[in-house]
Amino acid sequence: MTKVAIIGSGPCGLSILRAFQQAEEKGQKIPKLVCYEKQDDWGGLWNYSWRTGSDQYGDPIPNSMYRYLWSNGPKECLEFADYSFDEHFKQPIPSFPPREVLYDYILGRAKKANIKKYIKFNTTVNQVKFNGNMFEVSSLNKKDNTVTRNNFDYIVVATGHFSVPYIPEYKGMKTFPGRILHGHDFRDAEEFRNKEVIVLGSSYSAEDIALQCYKYGAKSVTIGYRNNPMGFKWPDEMKEVHYLDRLEGKKAIFKDGHEQNVDAIILCSGYLHHFPYLEENLKLKTGNRLYPPKLYKGVVWQDNHKIMYLGMQDQFHTFNMFDCQAWFARDVIMNKIHLPSEEKIQDDINKWMTQEEALEDPIQMIDFQTEYTKDLHAVSDYPNIDFELIREHFKSWEHHKEENIMTYRNNSFASAVTGTKAPIHHTPWAEAMDDSMYTFMKSK
Ligand SMILES: Cc1cc2nc3c(=O)[nH]c(=O)nc-3n(C[C@H](O)[C@H](O)[C@H](O)COP(=O)(O)OP(=O)(O)OC[C@H]3O[C@@H](n4cnc5c(N)ncnc54)[C@H](O)[C@@H]3O)c2cc1C
Ligand SMILES: NC(=O)c1ccc[n+]([C@@H]2O[C@H](COP(=O)([O-])OP(=O)(O)OC[C@H]3O[C@@H](n4cnc5c(N)ncnc54)[C@H](OP(=O)(O)O)[C@@H]3O)[C@@H](O)[C@H]2O)c1
Repeated sequence: MTKVAIIGSGPCGLSILRAFQQAEEKGQKIPKLVCYEKQDDWGGLWNYSWRTGSDQYGDPIPNSMYRYLWSNGPKECLEFADYSFDEHFKQPIPSFPPREVLYDYILGRAKKANIKKYIKFNTTVNQVKFNGNMFEVSSLNKKDNTVTRNNFDYIVVATGHFSVPYIPEYKGMKTFPGRILHGHDFRDAEEFRNKEVIVLGSSYSAEDIALQCYKYGAKSVTIGYRNNPMGFKWPDEMKEVHYLDRLEGKKAIFKDGHEQNVDAIILCSGYLHHFPYLEENLKLKTGNRLYPPKLYKGVVWQDNHKIMYLGMQDQFHTFNMFDCQAWFARDVIMNKIHLPSEEKIQDDINKWMTQEEALEDPIQMIDFQTEYTKDLHAVSDYPNIDFELIREHFKSWEHHKEENIMTYRNNSFASAVTGTKAPIHHTPWAEAMDDSMYTFMKSK
């Protein structure tokens, strides 16, 4: 019997478990599945952890999510085609839910599919070696400190790529008398109330963590971009300046001459694709981009078709794109999709990468990732979902952000699965301080 190891039970790992379970439901014989998860529960980054650094066993904490995190895109863009928000919540809910609500939704489908039985929790994969025929997976059960080795025909890498921070150093950091942390270790904006905060970076973490600090009472927030400013219309207490040059004691000096006192520096400088458990020739090496190299259809490792990667792209689309990838990977493993010749694989990868390299702005990037997702969707039995509507939603969302970065989360979108139009939330995001599911779900 074919054996498949799935590493990670975040949204991507759960997508492929659900994909197999759907095939089984339809009467197909599925392979033997083992999913390894280093945390004690499922849901990946959505499973909030107060911990930073390492866990009680000395294993690095993968979690980068923080308190008061609200979805940064409309939920209608990530909805599962086979499990709608309406089905889960039994009532329409607003378009930008906080983390706990999305976590509940992710787990709702996983529970319905009864896939927990495949997951070995508290079990870290330490090594994957290919012996020319099968993969030997070594895993550590952290609770009883035992190492187990098992052989598999296929490996599905679903360990995410927003867990290992990229941490640059700036002159003066060693002697800076305040707090320096990466966004990966950021947990609670309340810590920065009345503080002068510098956030370095110009992508989603920089945007959201800067706004969080402002919302929860920081005295000032200065964002230092490296290449391009985000350029939103920030509130008065916030500004964007160009690149940190150095720190002199508590003073920060930027390349554009701006100088100011600072209490805390939050590095939102991105993450590394990090797979310490994989042999070199199986390892994806890439930055955070929309089409990582050497992955056929963004999934199958070009140099060994029995190892597949899920969710390794930079992400506009998330959960339903992960699903399309998972359904594709499942069908390759179950021999329902036959891979073309090496030459055609290379041509296909080149085609996508050439297109990706020519992209100039977020609108083109949205189009690119929508086309990529539709290309995958077309070849499996993942249920119908209106990706054209999702494309339009993403573009409206971009415009809403440009119009007003403080209010874009108050908008409402229609479902690409059920057509349901989301209600407007009872409290505008800028005034909503409590991120609990209880408060979000109750009417005001
Ligand atoms: C701060 C932050 C906010 C985000 N907010 C949003 C949002 O609002 N909306 C959105 O759509 N997306 C958001 N994302 C994007 C996020 O990447 C996806 O939503 C999603 O979590 C990716 O799923 P994944 O399964 O690929 O990875 P993860 O969620 O990272 O899950 C990977 C899993 O693999 C496990 N693992 C890692 N290494 C091993 C190992 N060696 N052995 C065993 N298990 C292992 C981890 O414990 C984890 O459970 C956010 C990301 C970050 C960092
Ligand atoms: N729900 C939410 O609200 C929320 C909140 C946070 C994050 N997220 C998600 O988290 C994921 C990761 O986002 P991310 O912003 O952490 O990573 P990212 O999108 O990969 O961006 C990395 C950023 O780091 C900057 N950078 C790299 N090296 C730097 C240096 N030496 N000095 C200054 N800046 C440097 C880059 O700048 P250049 O552009 O100049 O290279 C870029 O702006 C995304 O999927 C995002 O959607 C969501």
